[in-house]
Amino acid sequence: MCGIFAVYNYQGDVEDFRQHALYLSKKIRHRGPDWSGCYTTGNHIIAHERLAIVGVDTGAQPITNDDKTLVLCVNGEIYNHSQLRKNLKRKHHFKTHSDCEIIMHMYEEMGIDLVQHLDGIFSFVLLDTKRNRIIAARDPIGVTTLYYGWNSHMPGAVYFASELKALNEDCDKILTFPPGHVYDSDNGNEPTRWFNPSWWDPERIPRTPIDYKQLRQALEASVRKRLMAEVPYGVLLSGGLDSSLIASIAVREARALAEQNGNKKKDSGGGDEDEDGLSTPWLPHQLHSFSIGLPGSPDLAAAREVSEHLGTTHHEFTFTIQEALDAVFDVIYHLETYDVTTVRASTPMYLLARKIKAIGVKMVLSGEGADECFGGYLYFHAAPDDAAFHAETISRVKNLHYADCLRANKSTMAWGLEARVPFLDKELLELVMNIDPSDKRPTSQYMEKYILRKAFDTSDEPYTTPYLPDSILWRQKEQFSDGVGYSWIDTLKQISSDKISDEEFKRAAERWPKDTPTTKEAYMYRAMFEDWFPQEACTASVVRWVPRADWGCPEDPSGRAQKAHEAGYACA
Ligand SMILES: *[C@@H]1O[C@H](CO)[C@@H](O)[C@H](O)[C@H]1NC(C)=O
Repeated sequence: MCGIFAVYNYQGDVEDFRQHALYLSKKIRHRGPDWSGCYTTGNHIIAHERLAIVGVDTGAQPITNDDKTLVLCVNGEIYNHSQLRKNLKRKHHFKTHSDCEIIMHMYEEMGIDLVQHLDGIFSFVLLDTKRNRIIAARDPIGVTTLYYGWNSHMPGAVYFASELKALNEDCDKILTFPPGHVYDSDNGNEPTRWFNPSWWDPERIPRTPIDYKQLRQALEASVRKRLMAEVPYGVLLSGGLDSSLIASIAVREARALAEQNGNKKKDSGGGDEDEDGLSTPWLPHQLHSFSIGLPGSPDLAAAREVSEHLGTTHHEFTFTIQEALDAVFDVIYHLETYDVTTVRASTPMYLLARKIKAIGVKMVLSGEGADECFGGYLYFHAAPDDAAFHAETISRVKNLHYADCLRANKSTMAWGLEARVPFLDKELLELVMNIDPSDKRPTSQYMEKYILRKAFDTSDEPYTTPYLPDSILWRQKEQFSDGVGYSWIDTLKQISSDKISDEEFKRAAERWPKDTPTTKEAYMYRAMFEDWFPQEACTASVVRWVPRADWGCPEDPSGRAQKAHEAGYACA
């Protein structure tokens, strides 16, 4: 992944603005510490901060076409780029071995429709100088981040950036660029939705019965795609079901890939290039796994058990409450949110990402998204019926970019580490979101994410090695921020209640009439956010987690606060 920054139709001399644009782009250099690029043409400027994972030696950006009429800047990974390349109708001159360049050549053939064909995670801006046109687009679910903004003194200019912090100095209106949308300057200021999957409408209740084998194969295919890398990679292991499954599949796929690659080398008598002229991916003989927690936390023990089962090279890190507390202010800077759940859960991940990067690993697989698409949160037990359950899963998936996707992306990119999330694969979602909700919905007999567990429970196929130990496969959910150690959340509550006086808290609504914090902890994060991002425009992109009060869920978003944890089935 990378950082992108662009201004379309700057009002003034773009060369005079260049230095300031470089300064703004530099604010997101943590996303791409490997190289920088900046390109100006007409009244436009496009800058890039690169994290090199595919096409390491050649993939500098912005990328231009031969006559320099197109300028492209991408943050992302296009998993089907080599297939797409084979499908091009005309001959194109590829300047890089980067997976992203394909976007430009597809644009030459099919215009804006190209986004439909991309399989991957991406945010990009593409400038067509002949038509004085810019298009910008974001991946289906919003695994990558993107913002856009305007300056009221400069009507007609539009800013784009991977993070808010590159926009808040210049823009007085900043919005989250909606996932699955494309912006076209030919069509005014409103982006249009290009992502129209069959499951989008919550009124339509799917009735496809669960096919366990199909589900298993789809998740395996999703992990396989995401092993595309030329640099060291690993897996995040929280000790919960989702990341453990991803790790288990990754171990198998990486081994298969290594064998395949070994054979290919033998056949061709060695050499580093495959048929596409791409260099050989970095293949770990041993997959590396990473986990973090407070000393003695239940998740650390679970992660260790998984790593022993899988035979990964495991790196376990612990942190002190003080270290985590000291990081919270920076976490809010990087995450650009004051949402309580996100801040709590991001802090350990932010600390872990730094450790992983320090080891030299640049990409990790992670388990985000499963709880949304399978309805894995404990409060899903309280869904009144199939229709409500199904609609809630859709709404959670659509909001991922405000919550867990934002956490996974920004807490890792803070250190130039890329997180890839196999559960949010376009094809996998198409399958999972079309499964009959009566198969998915937890009951007193079927625990949450039953079908996912069952799909990887090979205990009735005695000749296969199990994907995971039963104790993990059938372990009940703990939300990441809880599983890391309960004392982390208890301390945050304690510290905020010591720090924020009752008088201050009473005046919270005066200080923030919009989106007023309802707890002292929320107040504390809001104040920190305001320190970093004082401009009013900065809050428009923040969305807070709202519990389903109508399902009887309490205000505190932690999994433990919900009664299902004790009762084992209901939150009501
Ligand atoms: C990726 O590209 C290939 C080739 O055009 C296409 O067949 C495939 O459907 C694409 N994948 C996705 C998930 O869109």
